[in-house]
Amino acid sequence: MSGEPLELVVASANGDKVAEIVEIIGDELGGAVRLVARPSHVPDVEESEPTLEGNARVKARAVSAATGLGALADDSGLEVDALGGAPGVRSARYAGDGASYADNVAMLLGALTGVLDRRARFRTVAVARLGEGRELVCEGTVAGVIAPAPRGTRGFGYDPVFVPDGGDGRTFGEMEAAEKHAISARGRAFRALATLVKGELGR
Ligand code: IMP
Repeated sequence: MSGEPLELVVASANGDKVAEIVEIIGDELGGAVRLVARPSHVPDVEESEPTLEGNARVKARAVSAATGLGALADDSGLEVDALGGAPGVRSARYAGDGASYADNVAMLLGALTGVLDRRARFRTVAVARLGEGRELVCEGTVAGVIAPAPRGTRGFGYDPVFVPDGGDGRTFGEMEAAEKHAISARGRAFRALATLVKGELGR
């Protein structure tokens, strides 16, 4: 099958995440798909589900319904072993509704004061809703440890305190975007999803 590219709306209202998704798969999707920014009239979607997958599906469905187009969505969380997997699905609101990235990082470092086991992982569930209810789902993870204090100004969210395994000790906040994407949970989830989408479209 060939022809016009399929239009998929990038469902997130978080500009940092949208930029990463476009960087990760914009080229990979080639001529098969055209990524479209979420129109500003689409209302915020409440992340009401108890799981990352549930929230990613809810976001993709809501944006698809509001635009009449297919959609790409993700939900991500940081799971810290010593905190029983928190903040997890509540990562954006860990320090309360409307919390800033800095508030959440401060809350996390406070919760880990004096804690030696600092193992953690980012988990991303990415969903493509292609129309007629067809949904493709992929998950990506990256394991690492929480640093004692923030380092670096790149990335967003918890990046300045996340040191991925297998690296040279730098946090995601100290890495170039491409270095982060090569191993990040979002990079892994969306590259796998791009492969599924192209297969589904026969490209
Ligand atoms: P969301 O619910 O998927 O929008 O993301 C939840 C929260 O997780 C965000 O507000 C960020 O604080 C954090 N987060 C998501 N992805 C990343 C990432 O790639 N690096 C650092 N923090 C992230």
